[in-house]
Amino acid sequence: MPFEIVKNDITRMRVDAIVNAANNSLLGGGGVDGAIHRAAGPQLLEECRTLGGCATGEAKLTRGYNLPSKFVIHTVGPIWRGGSEGEAVQLAACYRNSLALAKGQGCDSVAFPLISAGAYGYPKAQALQVALDEITRFLSENDMMVYLVAYTRDAIELTGGLLDEVAAYIDDVYVQERLDFDRTARRSQYLRDGSPRGTPDPGSLFRRPHREDNARNETVFSEANVERLTAMQGETKDATQGRRGETFADMVVRILEGKGIADRECISRANVDRRLLGKIRNNMDYKPSKQTVLAFAMALELPLEEARELLTKAGYGLSHGSRTDVAVEYCITTGHYDVTALNAVLFKLKLQPLGY
Ligand code: APR
Repeated sequence: MPFEIVKNDITRMRVDAIVNAANNSLLGGGGVDGAIHRAAGPQLLEECRTLGGCATGEAKLTRGYNLPSKFVIHTVGPIWRGGSEGEAVQLAACYRNSLALAKGQGCDSVAFPLISAGAYGYPKAQALQVALDEITRFLSENDMMVYLVAYTRDAIELTGGLLDEVAAYIDDVYVQERLDFDRTARRSQYLRDGSPRGTPDPGSLFRRPHREDNARNETVFSEANVERLTAMQGETKDATQGRRGETFADMVVRILEGKGIADRECISRANVDRRLLGKIRNNMDYKPSKQTVLAFAMALELPLEEARELLTKAGYGLSHGSRTDVAVEYCITTGHYDVTALNAVLFKLKLQPLGY
């Protein structure tokens, strides 16, 4: 997955280069600047002294010294002054110049903090949007693993309403709470009259309480089990599609060619490793992860039924027992096919991102 938002301390990231949100002097400061200098040790400051400062929007490279990363790229973000003094252009330049420097240095991986979103007061959601736009633009033409490191989960704020819309849809649709409610209702009925009535427990999802001890029936209920059950139901229902002989790989290739989407464009939209489509084209029985299939369903802008069909061909089902699936269902049914935007939402919801 070429781009990922992660919650971490950037000084712990094991990448080729980490980016420092520095100031024009490059002589250290607070925030992430202070953390990086503390972790790197005094030699970093010594090298910074030789650089002669750095203009806002520019980037300069030093070694990483005691840091796990080989290099530190120091860039200076704009101080937020209301947004009408070219702050967005300068901030975009920070990401663009840092990525160009990392590429020129032969880095395979780089980690950014959210530049200017701390002491420099850039509104977090707008700072994130600039970062996402510049990073995805770079990755549409270059191969590199790029991390955006959030020190705290609330360091990431999203523009627009997608997070609230997805969260509301999950609340409405996600079946875990519903089945929990049913389970509780059923258990109290069982404990009252000793015989479960109503719909039988679906298979191994529940372990019946022992009559004598009336122990709280410890359920083995889990998203994975509901997903398995739903997928089995899905597979049964759609098995005919799978039996039509078209594999997941066949379907991806068919749609790419049918829609005239270039491999590079699809890879970039799906946020998957650039070699993946080669693997799919060379192995028509390729078995992707579910996160990859969901990413392709979004990248190919499939309607819901075709997304279900693609999942079935890869051996999965779209399950209301999985919050990620419910989030993807919402996006597909409302035409939000931007995987990067959805991954930022999934990060906020503490769910696994799409891609590979
Ligand atoms: N790892 C990852 N992110 C971090 C860390 C860390 N260890 N520490 C802070 N951050 C995050 C903040 O939560 C914020 O989202 O980095 C982002 C940028 O915040 P600042 O470090 O305050 O940087 P910035 O807003 O660009 O201000 C730069 O502050 O530290 C001084 O010398 C620096 O004058 C410069 C100014």
